[in-house]
Amino acid sequence: MLRRALLGALAAVLTAIAAADCTRDGLLAAAQSYLTAQTTGKTTDLKLAPSNFTFQQNNKAIEISKSMLTTAYKLDLNRTSLDTTACASYTMWISTSGAKPYVVGTQIRHPGNDTSVISSIDTVAATTGDLFFNATKTRDYIKAEDWSLIPESGRPSRDVLKKAGDAYLDMWTDAKAADTIPWGTDCERVEGSSLTRPCGGSLPHGGSTKTNGMRRYVIDEQLGSVDVLCQFDSLGPWPDSHEIRIVSGKVKYVHTITVMKT
Ligand SMILES: *[C@@H]1O[C@H](CO)[C@@H](O)[C@H](O)[C@H]1NC(C)=O
Ligand SMILES: *[C@@H]1O[C@H](CO)[C@@H](O)[C@H](O)[C@H]1NC(C)=O
Ligand SMILES: *[C@@H]1O[C@H](CO)[C@@H](O)[C@H](O)[C@H]1NC(C)=O
Ligand SMILES: *[C@@H]1O[C@H](CO)[C@@H](O)[C@H](O)[C@H]1NC(C)=O
Repeated sequence: MLRRALLGALAAVLTAIAAADCTRDGLLAAAQSYLTAQTTGKTTDLKLAPSNFTFQQNNKAIEISKSMLTTAYKLDLNRTSLDTTACASYTMWISTSGAKPYVVGTQIRHPGNDTSVISSIDTVAATTGDLFFNATKTRDYIKAEDWSLIPESGRPSRDVLKKAGDAYLDMWTDAKAADTIPWGTDCERVEGSSLTRPCGGSLPHGGSTKTNGMRRYVIDEQLGSVDVLCQFDSLGPWPDSHEIRIVSGKVKYVHTITVMKT
């Protein structure tokens, strides 16, 4: 009897220890369940938190039943980065076929490091008419990029990645921000479908008084990437995603998704 109780207690402790770790495998599985939902237009297989689940589309909270997740899209390209500290993931996908092309950035969050449950899905979705929108061009630029994992000795720290993401978004309000970013000489910036290479050229140096707000981060040290969803207040109340990849200590890629209609 006592022995059984002890074993039960031990099992509970082991479960708690297991649940306390947010793993890359768990985050990836949840992100894949989101992609499957998007390709089928069915949300029934998503493991949403029974209470307090939130869905946000273009910076507005809406019911998931009224969201774009209930429409099936054929995806041309998808890529996911994983943040085991925040227990969150960032997935971008592109759909060029069908009535409405899309370039989408989605952050998924999990409660208490438990990747078997989704507490929020937060999507910025650009389509025809949004900033420099051409999904085919964006797909072709991004498809050609190298997103292999960075060897352990060369990984940028979480702090470096967060600072780069913040400095990037601060360039419109802080004249000195651009000079704090370690631009790579072979860096590529894909804004909508507009390509700038090297990406450290023609940058803003202040000028706006409104800081880009509502920042939500997903930081992946193994990929050397940070994604920030935000509202691009320095130029307008635009839902936005800025993703930056740092390789060998220098910015290698910048991707932006900016929704002009709010
Ligand atoms: C849901 O949110 C409310 C209000 O923020 C909080 O009191 C409650 O503990 C949350 N429930 C869960 C299961 O997280
Ligand atoms: C996402 O991309 C991977 C390749 O990177 C592919 O194997 C997978 O089928 C894609 N998922 C969807 C839902 O299109
Ligand atoms: C989640 O995991 C991180 C990293 O392992 C840890 O620092 C944090 O305390 C954990 N949080 C919870 C709620 O278990
Ligand atoms: C997108 O760009 C491609 C390649 O430059 C071009 O062929 C196509 O017409 C563009 N699509 C739209 C909708 O403008």
